[in-house]
Amino acid sequence: MKERIKSLFNSRFGTNGVLYASAGRINLIGEHTDYNGGFVFPGAIDKCIMAEININGTDRVRVYSADLDAYCEFGLKEEDAPAEQWARYIFGVCREIIKRGFVVNGFDTVFAGNVPLGAGLSSSAALESCFAFALNDLFNDNKIEKFELALIGQSTEHNYCGVNCGIMDQFASVFGKKDHLMRLDCRSLEYEYYPFDAKGYKLVLLDSKVKHELVDSPYNKRRESCERVARTLGVETLRDADMAMLDAACDRISDEDFMRARYVIGEKQRVLDVCDALQRGDFETVGRCMYETHNGLSHDYEVSCVELDYLNDIARECGVTGSRIMGGGFGGCTINLVKDELYDNFIATAKKKFNEKYGHEPVVYPVVISDGAHKCEE
Ligand code: GLA
Repeated sequence: MKERIKSLFNSRFGTNGVLYASAGRINLIGEHTDYNGGFVFPGAIDKCIMAEININGTDRVRVYSADLDAYCEFGLKEEDAPAEQWARYIFGVCREIIKRGFVVNGFDTVFAGNVPLGAGLSSSAALESCFAFALNDLFNDNKIEKFELALIGQSTEHNYCGVNCGIMDQFASVFGKKDHLMRLDCRSLEYEYYPFDAKGYKLVLLDSKVKHELVDSPYNKRRESCERVARTLGVETLRDADMAMLDAACDRISDEDFMRARYVIGEKQRVLDVCDALQRGDFETVGRCMYETHNGLSHDYEVSCVELDYLNDIARECGVTGSRIMGGGFGGCTINLVKDELYDNFIATAKKKFNEKYGHEPVVYPVVISDGAHKCEE
């Protein structure tokens, strides 16, 4: 990827720039908890977006997406927003940096990536974090704090891409550390690194390769449900709610909102249980919680789909320790914690059965926990 970007950059712009990269992410547990002030437990992975960038001395940004074979040029004022969705991620990052009183001037860039799109691995956060990190280095002497870089990516989603996401993806992409997961408290923004060394187990993603594009922003709708329930309960976020409070208010909450909140309240505790279990090396508990999360996401939060439920069923049948849908939902991957000795059979069975039912095999990605945003060595 590095060589490809370098040669494309050189032939397009006739010079060389500096290379930066930022990663996609997995999340062991803690789904749809970030915008509820809860905990998440992500890690960056060995799939990234990489960009070569050179300051061009003008007030315009010239971008070439190698994967899309598409070119776009834009200015840096609010009214210069490009029409192309992919370019809005970069434009948004520039604008969010400028809005915070920092500097971005014109630059040329070529970028490419190997984070699968639509798989729930946060390719968009990787793109935002790559540019936020790079523009901090190139124009601002790294004066923007790391956490602010994540917030810049999140605001880009909110203000330029129409997704009211939480902070997990951008946080993981910026803060990721090789061989470590991170527990982030999304209310206090305190975080802790946990070495992840699951001896005797493998962590593997099965990508269903389906993405159900739903018309009515179901992600934003889930968030609205949670905020409605929080208001009814008189708390700032569902982080401050428990099941007793929810039960006591059930006649003032719609059935649908009740189910959404029930999932979030359960998930909040599961992240803490998983962190404790990991420290004891108790992978059975980790796995049990993952299955519980899947059930909650499927039945109460309703962000799963038949293909992901099927992959989860296959995991159970194969004796996989833990399995669940990962990320925002409506397609994408399951994340699976599998004993070494069951791994080959699980993968073969999942491929065969899924193919028989849906006409294609799921794609297998072994999880390698890696570093987040960084400048690439030459
Ligand atoms: C998407 C969002 C995140 C988070 C997850 C669900 O990835 O970008 O902020 O809410 O969904 O956990």
